[in-house]
Amino acid sequence: MSEESEVEAEKKIEGGEGAAGAAHTCASPGCGKPAKLACPTCLKLGMSTRFCGQDCFKASWNDHKSVHVSPDTPSAVFKNYKYTGMLRPWRVTKQRTVPEEILQPDYANHPGGESLEEQKSKRTMPGIPVYSEEEIAGIRAACRIGREVLDIAGNAVAVGVTGDELDRIVHDETVKRGAYPSPLNYYRFPKSVCTSVNEVICHGIPDERPLQDGDIVNIDVSVFYNGYHGDLNETFLVGNVDKDSVRLVECAYNALSAAINASRPGTLYKDLGEHINNVVKAAKCSVVTTYCGHGIGKLFHTAPNVPHYSNNKAKGTMQKGHIFTIEPMINLGQYRDVLWPDNWTAVTADGSRSAQFEHTMLVTDTGVELLTGRIGEPADRIVWTREKFQR
Ligand code: MF3
Ligand code: CO
Repeated sequence: MSEESEVEAEKKIEGGEGAAGAAHTCASPGCGKPAKLACPTCLKLGMSTRFCGQDCFKASWNDHKSVHVSPDTPSAVFKNYKYTGMLRPWRVTKQRTVPEEILQPDYANHPGGESLEEQKSKRTMPGIPVYSEEEIAGIRAACRIGREVLDIAGNAVAVGVTGDELDRIVHDETVKRGAYPSPLNYYRFPKSVCTSVNEVICHGIPDERPLQDGDIVNIDVSVFYNGYHGDLNETFLVGNVDKDSVRLVECAYNALSAAINASRPGTLYKDLGEHINNVVKAAKCSVVTTYCGHGIGKLFHTAPNVPHYSNNKAKGTMQKGHIFTIEPMINLGQYRDVLWPDNWTAVTADGSRSAQFEHTMLVTDTGVELLTGRIGEPADRIVWTREKFQR
């Protein structure tokens, strides 16, 4: 179809079924009016993009149409792929670069993105690192930068904002602070942050899909600053989110909270899964088993391994000076995950939604210090309020 005739076809936009009947906001940048008219191409792509009327639709057409096709997305590998849910991959922009003056991790320039230091430590490291005061100060600084960057990216979440825009914000704000965005080229991850929408469990690749009214989106920020990594993530509610999704996001938050409250010297890493599972069971959700929390510091991922599910066999006992993440991924439906053919995007096997929160923490004499804690809030516990994450 020629572009001209496609425009003709697109002009006849119709009202369509909203996702779970939720109200929509016009996708035309800056409009903000309620919207009922669906773009037919978006509908076919499983998108719930809505416009308030023909005028906004026509006015935004030139920008809007470019997201329908994806010349450089992995469309070839997705051919005949049977999606588990409604979400589809959109165009991915070019990989961003980091100025040479910024200290880069060992995988930044490895052709396969491999971290030889991580691989070596897996072979030779005797156990869980106990960090010195100097190292703790370095990791604390990295975590603080990660927190600032996530707050900025999280505040940019809105209907119509794309994952690519969030990636640009994370990349620029990280570099501005003299840090390297840890995901960039890590085992060839193509972007500077993970953005995981709806049924994406984790490791979503930021693309040109605009966020839709009713979406949930997780932003997972990790930074490498002055030789140390910090890692945190939060899930945001985009506009009018259905009740089940709110229950899911709150459940993921409370699951992390329960695990934090159980963390102190002497706690077995393998026991965290039980605390998480109790919260998740009560909310009738499920815990992903494929992806775990991890030690972090000089390396992005190191000992300990921190599973989020019950009856796991993780090794190790918490000790003052350990630094690790807890990052439970919780599904509304069943726990099983599958991978998209891009080899990164982990989605729920049943297409149900998934939510996650993550903190990096230091074991202290009596509990933990949340190195990625919210600025101005207690550093040893977290409290759910919807307002923090409602956008
Ligand atoms: N917080 C995520 C994790 O620990 C960050 C992943 S970055 C990626 O797995 F590059 F691996 F995607
Ligand atoms: Co992590």
